[in-house]
Amino acid sequence: MPSALDLILAPSILAGDHAALSGSAKIVEESGLKWIHLDIMDGHFVPNLSFGPQTIAALRKTSNLFFDTHLMLDNPHLYVEVFAQAGADLISIHVEPNYDIQATLSKIRSYDCQTGIVLNPNTPAQAVEKYLTQVDLVLIMTVQPGFGGQKFQHQMLSKMKTIHTWRKQQNLNFRLEVDGGIDLETASLCKANGVDTFVAGTSFFKAENKKAFVEKITQP
Ligand code: DX5
Ligand code: ZN
Repeated sequence: MPSALDLILAPSILAGDHAALSGSAKIVEESGLKWIHLDIMDGHFVPNLSFGPQTIAALRKTSNLFFDTHLMLDNPHLYVEVFAQAGADLISIHVEPNYDIQATLSKIRSYDCQTGIVLNPNTPAQAVEKYLTQVDLVLIMTVQPGFGGQKFQHQMLSKMKTIHTWRKQQNLNFRLEVDGGIDLETASLCKANGVDTFVAGTSFFKAENKKAFVEKITQP
């Protein structure tokens, strides 16, 4: 049961060239894509560090892409303003840390950013059920967050199906996104379970023929 929404590929710049991130963003743009996925890591919620609002602000000046900003932070509520001001178009926050999620989603929206809620592989779908009417996007992690290049966790397919079913039953139209180990093969498995938005870092930046890769991932 595929999604009714148009399919979007959002390459993760974490797999890009960290010595020239604007060049990596250009590659995404030249591949005819509209979204780019920006992985923000604090070294606490995930055991890795990536880049901060200053980098996003600098990229904003050079790119018209839609900044799909994934906050892997222990205290995302403390950083909504700075990332919104840096130029994030969508800010997604994890459901696992202990903070006021409801208030943070409202805060994201108050800055005219779209909202996303994210769940890790070990977090059951029920953890995000009560937020579905307030978000523009649900992100299902298909790897443990922190690093690119990990192996797709197939047991996440049933979670995609569950959340896609809730979306249809409640007549909602948030995007359903997956992130981690997404390539042509795993993307088609996710598509069959209602996913419409794909984060791909390693597979996109390693693809010889990016146009063909994009075609295949975004065809229904
Ligand atoms: C992992 C990040 C992912 C990652 C993508 O914490 O959230 O976006 O960069 O991973 P791959 O390289 O598997 O597509
Ligand atoms: Zn991500």
